[in-house]
Amino acid sequence: MKTLSEQMTAGSVAPPRMWLNGRLVPPAEARLDFLTPALHYGIAAFEGIRCYRTVRGPAIFRLQDHVERLLHSARVLGWRELPFGLDELADGCKQVVRARGFEECYIRPLIWLGDGGWNLTVDAGKAHAGIAVWEWKAYLGAAALEQGVRANISPFTRHHPNVMMTKAKISGNYPNSVLAKTESLRLGFDEAIMLDGQGMVAECTGENIFVVRRGRLVTPPPGAILEGITRDSIMTLARDLGYEVVEQPLSRDQLYIADEVFVTGTAAEVIGLREIQTGQFAREWILENQAGRPAFDKLRAEGKAHPIEEVGRRMRELMSWLRDARKDSSEAPRKPRPAAQA
Ligand SMILES: Cc1ncc(COP(=O)(O)O)c(C=O)c1O
Repeated sequence: MKTLSEQMTAGSVAPPRMWLNGRLVPPAEARLDFLTPALHYGIAAFEGIRCYRTVRGPAIFRLQDHVERLLHSARVLGWRELPFGLDELADGCKQVVRARGFEECYIRPLIWLGDGGWNLTVDAGKAHAGIAVWEWKAYLGAAALEQGVRANISPFTRHHPNVMMTKAKISGNYPNSVLAKTESLRLGFDEAIMLDGQGMVAECTGENIFVVRRGRLVTPPPGAILEGITRDSIMTLARDLGYEVVEQPLSRDQLYIADEVFVTGTAAEVIGLREIQTGQFAREWILENQAGRPAFDKLRAEGKAHPIEEVGRRMRELMSWLRDARKDSSEAPRKPRPAAQA
């Protein structure tokens, strides 16, 4: 019988391969011992990265930023030293994409506490790293891109940074998302909006959130959220397009009077919200402007959800965000230059 990794990473003509501690191996070799501390205590950091098909071949979106966040997550978790650095992990991602032969895929690096650590510290244990890729299409469903999705306001509070640090994609943070998302789906919604410890809007279970009102984009400040790389990309694009973008505390009722609400994340990409449940009012609040979503549609057309070659001058400048998956190369500057004044 095929392993779960073999099933998930199947789908191309090339034999399945994963990157494990610096080597490409068949998934069957990338198995963990039952007594792996990461499995018991959630001591692991991970990333989710997308590789897109372009006319120049598969290209990985903001690879360096993702790997840097992975290393930051590991540092937040307390690791002082890791066996792999930025270049090795970034090259590992490219190697797996090449080995699998996918034109478009999702890349999942993970650093985990492989042994030691039963005394609840990372200091006595050893970090391991692995990278898998698979084809992952529309995370929030095929219709989400066109129709938007329905969200509830979750009764589960987002982590306070003094409980579980939210700047880090630590595996142990995610049961919080799993609780909220499971409940949301069981209630018949597609996604859950989570509030922070102060009751202000934080983010969704795997996406950041934006509100558009009178042509101005508002998104919650970094305090209690994961600083999404898609969020940063959208803020950059929106400012280029002349929108005012502010990071400020967002109250729940600001969602209800917004012209548009959309969410951003690597897996989901850029998805509009079509309904938000108001909870105690026991009725659904429906975005009035769901037919015309000017800011959202414009941003999506300019953004990475659109084929990269078709979106014009600004996106060509943003090509520095894409890394050719076919080459091992040192990384160029991450942030694209500001748009040239017309
Ligand atoms: C909790 C949470 N917020 C936001 C995001 C969006 O981050 P990014 O755009 O970097 O994928 C993610 C996904 O990684 C997430 O898990």
